Amino acid sequence: MNDLTHRIAGLIRPEIQTLAAYHVPDSGGYIKLDAMENPYDWPPEIVHEWLAELAGAKPNRYPDARAHALKQAIRQAHQVPDSAELLLGNGSDEIIQIILMAVAGTGVTVMAPEPTFVMYRQISRCLGLDFTGVPLRADFSLDRAAMHAAIETHRPAVIFLAYPNNPTGNRFSLDEVLDIVQRAPGLVVVDEAYAPFASHSCLPLVDQYPALVVMRTLSKLGLAGLRLGYLAARPEWIEPFEKVRLPYNINVLTQLTAAFILRHPAFLEQQVQAILAERSRLHAALSALDDDLAVYPSEANFILFRLKRVDAGVVHQRLKAKGILIKNLDQAGAALAGCLRVTVGTPTENTGFLEALADALAA
Ligand SMILES: Cc1ncc(COP(=O)(O)O)c(C=O)c1O
Repeated sequence: MNDLTHRIAGLIRPEIQTLAAYHVPDSGGYIKLDAMENPYDWPPEIVHEWLAELAGAKPNRYPDARAHALKQAIRQAHQVPDSAELLLGNGSDEIIQIILMAVAGTGVTVMAPEPTFVMYRQISRCLGLDFTGVPLRADFSLDRAAMHAAIETHRPAVIFLAYPNNPTGNRFSLDEVLDIVQRAPGLVVVDEAYAPFASHSCLPLVDQYPALVVMRTLSKLGLAGLRLGYLAARPEWIEPFEKVRLPYNINVLTQLTAAFILRHPAFLEQQVQAILAERSRLHAALSALDDDLAVYPSEANFILFRLKRVDAGVVHQRLKAKGILIKNLDQAGAALAGCLRVTVGTPTENTGFLEALADALAA
């Protein structure tokens, strides 16, 4: 070991040294169906109006630390209950980090059913927190008895429930979520990243259940590049989290753009409808494509499917060779063995994907 690596090894916490960084593949030149983005561009007239608004931005000044105008726009657009406060994050990833930084300490446990969104575990481990993953059932529904037992044993400070869940696509039942909210000794974060595509939201319930907070993002709706997430919660929860949030975490351009878009919701709603129609078509086409595929139901803008006969890694590579990038989850643990996840794209992208998949399975 040379001097520098020795120095780093002595300095960086062991749990960070053993951790792998979140891997984002190079997507240049591919039809990109791996990251749950909205595939549609903005209409030219909206771009025009937006650019006119951006001309009034003042990048020489710090952003509004309270993001007052943006919070008002979120409240109106998403019907946030009057009694709830909002915490904004640079993506909902940052909100997960803020919550966990606020509770971090020796012996503190974070819990989530698994498989689920990997950042709950990743950020917990970065902060030296114990993370307990409770396996979902084979059909990816919540295992109530296992959750109850794990709550009793570990007394988690925070439980994350992705509603709908990523990467499985299903939404747990409201009854199951509320059962966990009522049993939890600490906080339950219902992560509604995929709310635009789901048939139910817990947002109206945040003032009824003291342990419940709801997290949302604008990423999946169509603003992934902006990085804006929010937490809606009782003011008592937001107050300590605000102490952890960095004062200017939402930059001038994001504040202005997000507020602008929330005041122009119609075109994004049309895009969501197009994505929902394509989700149905894609689901039906995948189910009919090959007996080898098990296709899971989805309330999100992606579909998870499992290959029973052909190796998922090989199919993933064959799709890549044809210029199509989807997510390979085969290595992500036994529950996801053989699984691939495709984001719902435009009709042309989806058709291209289906044709390439049929070829990849036949090869
Ligand atoms: C369930 C869930 N929560 C949160 C996020 C993070 O979203 P962002 O940081 O873009 O707001 C994702 C992204 O894939 C997700 O799947």
